[in-house]
Amino acid sequence: MSTTPRSERFAGRTIVVTGAGSGLGRAVSVRLAAEGASVWAADIDTDAAHVVADQIGRDGGDCRVHRLDVADPLGWERLVDAVGDRAVHGLVNNAGVSMRAGIADTSVEDWNRVLGVNLSSVFYGMKYLAGPLERAGGASVVNVSSIAGMLGYFSAAYAASKWGVRGVSKTGALEFAAKKIRVNSVHPGLVDTPLLNSGDPRFVDVSLRAVPAGRAASSSEVAGTIAFLLSDEASYINGAELVVDGGMVSTGTYHRITTDLAAPGTI
Ligand SMILES: NC(=O)c1ccc[n+]([C@@H]2O[C@H](COP(=O)([O-])OP(=O)(O)OC[C@H]3O[C@@H](n4cnc5c(N)ncnc54)[C@H](O)[C@@H]3O)[C@@H](O)[C@H]2O)c1
Repeated sequence: MSTTPRSERFAGRTIVVTGAGSGLGRAVSVRLAAEGASVWAADIDTDAAHVVADQIGRDGGDCRVHRLDVADPLGWERLVDAVGDRAVHGLVNNAGVSMRAGIADTSVEDWNRVLGVNLSSVFYGMKYLAGPLERAGGASVVNVSSIAGMLGYFSAAYAASKWGVRGVSKTGALEFAAKKIRVNSVHPGLVDTPLLNSGDPRFVDVSLRAVPAGRAASSSEVAGTIAFLLSDEASYINGAELVVDGGMVSTGTYHRITTDLAAPGTI
């Protein structure tokens, strides 16, 4: 994985990253640590999180692992206990699970599971860490939604969870502004991670036909956007939705149409 040159943009800052053991969370953790942050890598898979923490340690950064099931409020209470009276300067609510099924094919159990991991987690994170974030005297929360929260999406539970993240982020932005806590949501398109590559292998190839950039994002490209929102450079950005999708939501439909029209013999 590519890392950035060491800088001190986040020196002296503690930032909690959920789902830090893989994919986007891993890239974010590496990036923040390389820029001086003390990263709390929270994941249900502590083996994976320890691999990330070891890599960060070898690179001279600071990362501690915390076992957390983001869907469990008691887990968040234990995290807050571990934080103690420290200030937390950033929270990246990133952990999530994939689910590609429509309404008819989604069981009640899967509906509740996906909503728990992808959406309730974001509510819990902001609710339980509000105190330590306020203590920082200026903090930033980045909630990882998806383009599935920007448009009509085929997967019921995943879409509902990501639209929910978008909505509850607005509530956080409104409610916490007085505490000097900014809350924004990030909406990645296709990102080259284990999550994207799970399931039907045709999904990525067919989806790429609607991506003007012609490729998936690397996890470090999206990590850069998240780092920006956590940084002081984004000090006046609150309640925003940052779409990081190579143009898929804004122009993907006409990218596919114009590409098909330009290809002789396809129509
Ligand atoms: N990869 C994509 O194309 C893409 C696109 C849009 C949005 N996203 C979102 O980005 C986020 C990260 O996805 P990714 O692609 O890096 O996935 P990933 O599967 O590579 O990593 C997810 C991480 O979350 C952890 N996790 C899962 N359930 C958890 C739980 N209950 N408690 C704590 N940790 C848990 C996993 O152990 C893993 O480390 C997710 O919210 C996902 O919905 C991904």
